Amino acid sequence: MNVLILGSGGREHAFAWKIAKSSSCNQLFIAPGNSGTAQVGININIEINNFQSIKEFVLTENIELVLVGPEDPLVNGIYNFFKEDKELKGISLIGPSKEGALLEGSKQFAKEFMFRHDIPTARYRAFTKDNLAEGYNFLESLEAPYVLKADGLAAGKGVLILNDLQKAKEELKAMLKDAKFGSASSTVVIEEFLEGIELSVFVLTDGDSYKILPSAKDYKRIGEGNTGLNTGGMGAVSPVPFADRFYIEKVEREIIKPTIEGLKKDNIEYNGFIFIGLINVKGEPKVIEYNVRMGDPETEVVIPRIKSDLLNLLNGIKDGTFSEKDLEIREEVATTVMLVSGGYPETYEKGKEISGIKEVSESIVFHAGTKQEGETVKTSGGRVIALTSFGENMKDALKKSYESAEKIDFEGKYFRKDIGFDL
Ligand code: AMP
Ligand code: GLY
Repeated sequence: MNVLILGSGGREHAFAWKIAKSSSCNQLFIAPGNSGTAQVGININIEINNFQSIKEFVLTENIELVLVGPEDPLVNGIYNFFKEDKELKGISLIGPSKEGALLEGSKQFAKEFMFRHDIPTARYRAFTKDNLAEGYNFLESLEAPYVLKADGLAAGKGVLILNDLQKAKEELKAMLKDAKFGSASSTVVIEEFLEGIELSVFVLTDGDSYKILPSAKDYKRIGEGNTGLNTGGMGAVSPVPFADRFYIEKVEREIIKPTIEGLKKDNIEYNGFIFIGLINVKGEPKVIEYNVRMGDPETEVVIPRIKSDLLNLLNGIKDGTFSEKDLEIREEVATTVMLVSGGYPETYEKGKEISGIKEVSESIVFHAGTKQEGETVKTSGGRVIALTSFGENMKDALKKSYESAEKIDFEGKYFRKDIGFDL
């Protein structure tokens, strides 16, 4: 069958790398893709939110399955666009409906969903500019640090964690009254701060049954020791040592099952990935966020650990055999280290020539922000390349990722040298 993947990051390269290995994959296209996806499929220059262009391409190339990488097209309703179109109806689109995508697209929606279905999460209230004063009162009732979340998508920047009450009030006002994050912050969720270590759990569902994928931990801050600005993610490890079988069973019982059941009860169509961001508070998992897609760079460690044919699993979602499929996982530890452009996540330069990719033999090189220009590969984004390695343990895997990180070079290259330090 012919497959189309939407997106252009390390996550999409990891998907493409895996799907290209499937015996049922005929032609694989990635829109728009990057220099890495071009090695395993064909990049096509289509904008991922241009549903009409995607439709034309899907029909012309006889695409049977579309896998959506990032959240944007999902929140914009690409699932519904396919379902409501006579010609596209029969094509399998992996991703939730527009309503399902609100689990990521609206923090307030996600919180209401969790409370409605008894899913453990932080206490919260939502505010608009019309009840700003109540927002101040609510902040006063909490203890520092204060967690303020823009309701809508804000390119990963919409969460503020502040230690000072006065500052928290100012920021609340800036978000609600001065549209600090545009319309994304016309509603703000204020929630209780949860203290603990973070963990990401991934589920693949056909809306009825589900499979739990390997768990992972990512490192979001730019600086070592988890300091400095938030990024898309600087590295990841899978599995996470404290998330043993018993812990994951608890997560399944308290969070995953009620989430899938909740979607069904609420009549929300959902087939695709659910990324559950958790904080482990003294052994108790609590949800800090849902994402309606896989994580990046978590995908770069989770997908390589899956032994089963991913396309076969995705096909099961379409033909109703998903629950019968096996999910086999590699035992070894996978780590990934992200090479980023100097200056990221603030302003950085693009177009730097990348050398040494061919020298890497011990890691899988997943391209994120790269672009092919003739014979050369150049940087085209903040996060440039993720280096994924396997090992008997985390230390062995990381050693390989770091050796590979030294082999690849481009002007301004930076990476964190302490991935996994807290595990
Ligand atoms: P989110 O976009 O909701 O995942 O938030 C971004 C980051 O803020 C998370 O990865 C956490 O590190 C942190 N965070 C979010 N909510 C809380 C919370 N209630 N308590 C502590 N940290 C939080
Ligand atoms: N690595 C976090 C995310 O994909 O949102």
